[in-house]
Amino acid sequence: MSKLEPVSGVLKLAPYKQGQSQIDGVSNPIKLSSNESSHGPSPRALEAYQDAAATLNRYPDGSQYELRHAIAEVHNLDADKIICGNGSDELIQLMVRTYVRPGDQALLSENGFIMSNIHCVAQGAELVIAPEKDYRVDVDALLERVTEKTRFCTIANPNNPTGTFISGSELRRLHAGLPESCLLLIDDAYAEYVWDESYEDGSSLVEEFENVVMTRTFSKIYGLPSLRIGWAYCPESVVRSAGRIRTPFNTNGPALAAAKAAIKDVEFTARIKDHNKVSLIHIREAVGAMGIEIIPSQTNFYLMKFPESQGKSGSDAAAFLQSRGIIPRPAGGSDQYLRISVGLDQENQAVLSALADYMRA
Ligand SMILES: Cc1ncc(COP(=O)(O)O)c(C=O)c1O
Repeated sequence: MSKLEPVSGVLKLAPYKQGQSQIDGVSNPIKLSSNESSHGPSPRALEAYQDAAATLNRYPDGSQYELRHAIAEVHNLDADKIICGNGSDELIQLMVRTYVRPGDQALLSENGFIMSNIHCVAQGAELVIAPEKDYRVDVDALLERVTEKTRFCTIANPNNPTGTFISGSELRRLHAGLPESCLLLIDDAYAEYVWDESYEDGSSLVEEFENVVMTRTFSKIYGLPSLRIGWAYCPESVVRSAGRIRTPFNTNGPALAAAKAAIKDVEFTARIKDHNKVSLIHIREAVGAMGIEIIPSQTNFYLMKFPESQGKSGSDAAAFLQSRGIIPRPAGGSDQYLRISVGLDQENQAVLSALADYMRA
């Protein structure tokens, strides 16, 4: 019997369950379970990745200079306020490890992205979860739960698995109601997909306040999840503090090179954004017409609620889709829901015809 004992927060956690990636007996399933980009990365990112093979014997640039400056140039930001990470997951963890103490309260939204919960529990914090309204982050519900122990608050904007977002003014109202000693982490993993004009990413709040961090990722619209690369935009004091525990080579050379090329290929990104929007509008109409509720999404995925009154459920729909070689993701906390990524036209069409057949069956 091992005498090793993990810290108490770790013992409270169940292992993370990754989205399914295979179906027994199906050689090339349509994988729409992890909000990946079926388009893949920009050809320029692939080329940069391949070129990076020539320097695998060298440590990567621990200062992440070139990628930070490429991000800053494209987004008109300050490169000194950017930290890159091994996926945005690592940056969320880095912020929690830097700012959350055992016994602190972490304020989260009901359908928020699960990794923040995991890192906060591991750190010994107490989770305070605010309910959502109409599948949307409810700023009032969050603010009602603020106490003197609230040291961390995070929302994903847009959110996963709902796909909904809150406007720039709601985001500012949330920030204004939090104590200055509370870090607000705005997880903008899907920001590149949003077309609604009331949306604001977290960067201007970071410029204005000392207690706001925005995280972004190359895993979604840039099509590079396997390389594990994301970035955070932070006040300088946060860069200094989190920098003390960031491991020096947390981002690898091929990832830094590919991400730099990807972010500079703005035309490629704009094409993916347009295709996603057009696809989503079409999917929303088609799915709605089948009698399935579809939550309005501004991301590369959509959450559906199947009508219980007609004997339909998310798990039955998932089994039906799998019988057609399509992998969706159970989500939304009950058996009525299913989440599916937006894919290529032929993939979306396969989903729509399978859903129509399931609803008729
Ligand atoms: C809301 C949200 N935040 C963060 C992430 C993590 O992304 P990364 O691959 O950058 O770690 C995901 C991944 O699905 C996500 O949905």
